[in-house]
Amino acid sequence: MNTKQYQELNKAQLTIGTVQLNSKVILAPMAGITDSVLRQIVRMFSSDCLLTSEMVSSEALLMNHDKSIINHNKIEYPLSFQLSGHKPELMAKAAKALEEISTIIDINMGCPAPKIVRNNDGVKLMTDLKLASQIISSIKNSVSIPVTVKFRLGWDSGTKNFIEFAKMAEESGADALCIHGRTKSQMYSGIADWHALGEAKNSVKIPVIANGDITSPEKAKSCLEISKCDGIAIGRGILGDPGLIYRIEEYIQNDNLLPEPTIQERLELALIHCKKEAELKGEIHGIKFMRKFFGHYIKGIRNATKYRFDLVRVTSIAEIEDLFSTIIENLDNSC
Ligand SMILES: Cc1cc2nc3c(=O)[nH]c(=O)nc-3n(C[C@H](O)[C@H](O)[C@H](O)COP(=O)(O)O)c2cc1C
Repeated sequence: MNTKQYQELNKAQLTIGTVQLNSKVILAPMAGITDSVLRQIVRMFSSDCLLTSEMVSSEALLMNHDKSIINHNKIEYPLSFQLSGHKPELMAKAAKALEEISTIIDINMGCPAPKIVRNNDGVKLMTDLKLASQIISSIKNSVSIPVTVKFRLGWDSGTKNFIEFAKMAEESGADALCIHGRTKSQMYSGIADWHALGEAKNSVKIPVIANGDITSPEKAKSCLEISKCDGIAIGRGILGDPGLIYRIEEYIQNDNLLPEPTIQERLELALIHCKKEAELKGEIHGIKFMRKFFGHYIKGIRNATKYRFDLVRVTSIAEIEDLFSTIIENLDNSC
């Protein structure tokens, strides 16, 4: 391989401020989901994607003693920590506190959860551009790492202000934007509008990351083609399939369409996930925490409803192992 070919091969896929990433794909932040354990499992497959933490409340980070939400492992880098809040000074302090452990700081201006919106955080900030701008510039001025902003298309279909918001974020100092192609009032219903994300991309010079409904390598390619965005962020698609980001990277970078994981492979991952959560939280709490994931890991198999019923009642790793063995045996018997 000559130098030119080598440079071409190692060219950054996505540049955010001073950070060069060798992947266009980002793990989207998901509260209660993208903890250190899940991020490490995604990293087992993809060595290059940017991983994002769950949202970290700026206020809680600065006031609470429990800092377990920022637990992380060095294999997770490049790693972005996402901050929520609505007080510029406090958020700037929180960003400063996270700077040493973050590759990038992401600001949550898109979460539509009632508890968050009631607190004037998340997508509520899309209704107050002046305050949103103050938050972005305060954080930007307090850290020397890149700052990104994640938001939606707007509050509802009548107030889609994402273009104005994107321009404001760029002027306020954001190094990249990640936009979920839905409004607040849509929550997670309907279809993410990738064409609108293309309009946002055309309205600013900084990189724009497309987000929403990218659940397969083919959809990833299609979203990049439609939106012409610089990168893509994957959320729910990794539930039960943490290797999805790697398969997307292989497809969009090397045109290599890898097979989806078999049920055996999914269950192996579910067990790794379970054991790591149990190590972190203790067996009882770790297994309880895993309840929200089991349904995704066994999605599509025969008798999934019955197994899900059993899985939310187990209390030990040993029981889970037994149940998984039964699932595999019954799969073999049904062949
Ligand atoms: C359970 C769950 C938790 C989420 N938590 C966050 C969060 O903490 N911060 C955030 O910006 N977005 C959050 N999101 C939104 C996702 O990052 C993403 O924007 C959304 O799910 C659309 O992408 P997808 O279709 O790939 O899932 C969450 C979504 C889900 C389903």
